[in-house]
Amino acid sequence: MKAFNDLADFSNEEIAAFIALANRLDAHPEPEALRGKVLSLLFLSPSLRTLASFQAAMTRLGGGSFVISPDMSIHGLETRPGIVMDGAAAEHIREAVPVIASYGDAIGIRAFAERKSLEHDMAEVEFNAMLDLIDTPYINMESAMGHPCQNLADWKTLDDLDIPANGGKFVLSWAYHPKALPLAVPTSTLYMAAKRGMDVTVLRPEGFQLPTPLMRKAIFAAEENGGSVRETDDRKEAMEGAHVIYAKSWSSTAHYGDKLGDHDLRENLIDWCVDEPWFESARDDCRFMHCLPVRRGVVVSEPVLDGPRSVVIPEARNRMLAQMAVLHQMLGGS
Ligand code: CP
Repeated sequence: MKAFNDLADFSNEEIAAFIALANRLDAHPEPEALRGKVLSLLFLSPSLRTLASFQAAMTRLGGGSFVISPDMSIHGLETRPGIVMDGAAAEHIREAVPVIASYGDAIGIRAFAERKSLEHDMAEVEFNAMLDLIDTPYINMESAMGHPCQNLADWKTLDDLDIPANGGKFVLSWAYHPKALPLAVPTSTLYMAAKRGMDVTVLRPEGFQLPTPLMRKAIFAAEENGGSVRETDDRKEAMEGAHVIYAKSWSSTAHYGDKLGDHDLRENLIDWCVDEPWFESARDDCRFMHCLPVRRGVVVSEPVLDGPRSVVIPEARNRMLAQMAVLHQMLGGS
């Protein structure tokens, strides 16, 4: 396997095989499987879970890893193409990325969206420019529009909870956050649930519709797998019979790259904080998912986050297990 970049590159059978392997490695550890293998980890954007879970995954499989990020005592990194480097940055990613990649057997790269132009971010310009510099196997650790490691872990979490694929009702809900956040998690989570064959409702206020091409990609995946995708701003209707609500804040697509326009729209939406009354029309055992980090009392109330509906901690642990399966397949574990 040369790349783990998008769940769309894998059949549902292959995804099931990743999850079966993750479960096997959890039950029967293989501390020698990747002995002598090295994973390079390049974080151009911040992280807790991805940073820790990839290092833990490699260690548990007997391999090693190293991390490079701008916060470390490295030379200042320039990312802009075609620039005369007469400013503060001493090194360009055109050299840094292939050098880092050359020290490992595979590389993980995290680079969030620029969030100036929706078309630019949907084309994954920065991420693809880095991929052009390497021929090592790579893992997308979150790009402008993708977070496949989160998606695989979330698929496994839904399986762990015995939430049905066909007939399972998945609500992807926008939630308030003071800042405009990337679209990677909501768009790729939408695709994950649709590909799993679930009935997916995108619950969002006006101005926060997900990009049409990514809605279409999800609708197509749902149709292929016996599910459906729709969107609404009606909370009660969206939550009717829901098995799970997956909360996430994201940027306004109506004002993408326009901080003031986005701010003016979201400042009236602070009641979009997931709280117990949201669950009135849902199934009694409706679960709460979030990729983390999450702002308490802003995105979700403390009683929901700390209560029995919430699965955010096992969901985060599944990041490590899912990535162990990906690394095992990519780096040739037995
Ligand atoms: N969910 C997730 O990717 O978390 P981090 O940003 O902390 O890595």
